[in-house]
Amino acid sequence: MWAIVAAVSYPQRIIGWRGRLPWHLPLELRLFRQLTWGGILVVGRKTWETLPPTLPGREVWVLSQSPKPPSAQARFFSSPSSLLEALEAANRPVFFAGGASLYAWALQLPKVSRLYLSWIYAQTPGDTFFPPFSEKVWVVTQWEFFEEKCLQFIRAVYERI
Ligand SMILES: NC(=O)c1ccc[n+]([C@@H]2O[C@H](COP(=O)([O-])OP(=O)(O)OC[C@H]3O[C@@H](n4cnc5c(N)ncnc54)[C@H](OP(=O)(O)O)[C@@H]3O)[C@@H](O)[C@H]2O)c1
Repeated sequence: MWAIVAAVSYPQRIIGWRGRLPWHLPLELRLFRQLTWGGILVVGRKTWETLPPTLPGREVWVLSQSPKPPSAQARFFSSPSSLLEALEAANRPVFFAGGASLYAWALQLPKVSRLYLSWIYAQTPGDTFFPPFSEKVWVVTQWEFFEEKCLQFIRAVYERI
């Protein structure tokens, strides 16, 4: 299964502010960890730069055209085609985990069949946004309400129809 996973403000669709997440929601991060455990996390280079050095239970694969030294913590791919070839061969759950440019690219991939979006009810400044997607193509099949740190969020699962 290939999926996109994101935390997105409602209704502005903000995902980032000054290179970081605009909020700190440990419960939402725990849901992310549970969901992605055992899978491959695919991220763009800017998101990778914000991650902790190691993410237990997951492999991190990074799309980047910048030259990178070999790393034990992440695997780098300089082109979408080389990344896709390796993902096909890996035969493991794949989670496209941001940021905006990575999401825009992943939404176009026919093999991406599910979106896990946490809609965060927060008024927050933002400079990076989740790309628009068609609700004629993506339909909500499950949702659950959460509350944390006076913020409410809905974890919605969308399937491609
Ligand atoms: N709310 C959430 O769930 C969430 C999740 C993740 C990230 N974020 C936020 O999103 C923001 C970062 O997003 P962003 O869009 O600025 O950056 P990004 O997507 O994380 O990284 C962009 C970089 O990734 C590489 N890349 C992406 N798509 C590519 C493609 N199709 N082909 C080749 N290379 C590609 C390029 O690296 P090179 O320049 O090295 O070539 C590009 O400069 C941050 O604020 C972060 O905190 C939010």
